[in-house]
Amino acid sequence: MRGYLVAGNWKMNGSTAANDALVAGIIANAPPSESVELLVCPPFPYLSAVAEKLAGSRVALGSQNVSQFQSGAYTGETAASMLRDVGCKYVIVGHSERRAMMGETSEIVAAKFQAVLDTGLVPILCVGETLADREAGETEAVIDEQLGAVLNLSGVDSFVNAVIAYEPVWAIGTGMTASPEQAQDVHRHIRAALEARSESVAEGVKILYGGSVKGDNAAGLFSKPDIDGGLIGGASLKSADFLAIAEAAATLG
Ligand code: PGA
Repeated sequence: MRGYLVAGNWKMNGSTAANDALVAGIIANAPPSESVELLVCPPFPYLSAVAEKLAGSRVALGSQNVSQFQSGAYTGETAASMLRDVGCKYVIVGHSERRAMMGETSEIVAAKFQAVLDTGLVPILCVGETLADREAGETEAVIDEQLGAVLNLSGVDSFVNAVIAYEPVWAIGTGMTASPEQAQDVHRHIRAALEARSESVAEGVKILYGGSVKGDNAAGLFSKPDIDGGLIGGASLKSADFLAIAEAAATLG
């Protein structure tokens, strides 16, 4: 029983006041389900303050990015050990916005994934194709390349302590959600790629779907056998919207 993870990726949004209200709303009304873990991923400057607000709650803290380096002369970077120090449990790596806009290659993403594992935190590895990739019939090849870079560096057993998020780029922030069947097909492909190397690892790893998940489409997605929750952008910025998604998972879990 893998359970569900419902993760909020706040992206570059928020303020002290807005975050306080959002976190208070989530904590106050989080479904008490044992099979659903909730996670929020604020921007770096707010991690400590949000950690304090989350203390004693069942909501976990994560970051949206990390350095691939451990410490030292890397101006502007943030080490995984610092994220652990301020209370993070999870770290998102390889979000498509970072791959596309910040030039992160699959090799850089793999190095970040390994840096997170080395500190005992849990990486959430994002993979996903663009619309052009999909239309060219390249979806699985793109996923294989992104996943393959991590498998080559860290090996299949690293996924015992990791999460994967399938996020089709064309569905992110567009309102164009992948259908449950489209998402399930890719989730199955991802799990099968791991299964070929280790059945037990493949069986245990959570694979989240991300891309315009909302309260009214979450249940359809989460009811698919290989979809174990969601990575939520826009709908994670209002507690009622985020909790509607959490409720969908709790009802299924
Ligand atoms: P969205 O973003 O829910 O706003 O589509 C998802 C993500 O980018 O993680």
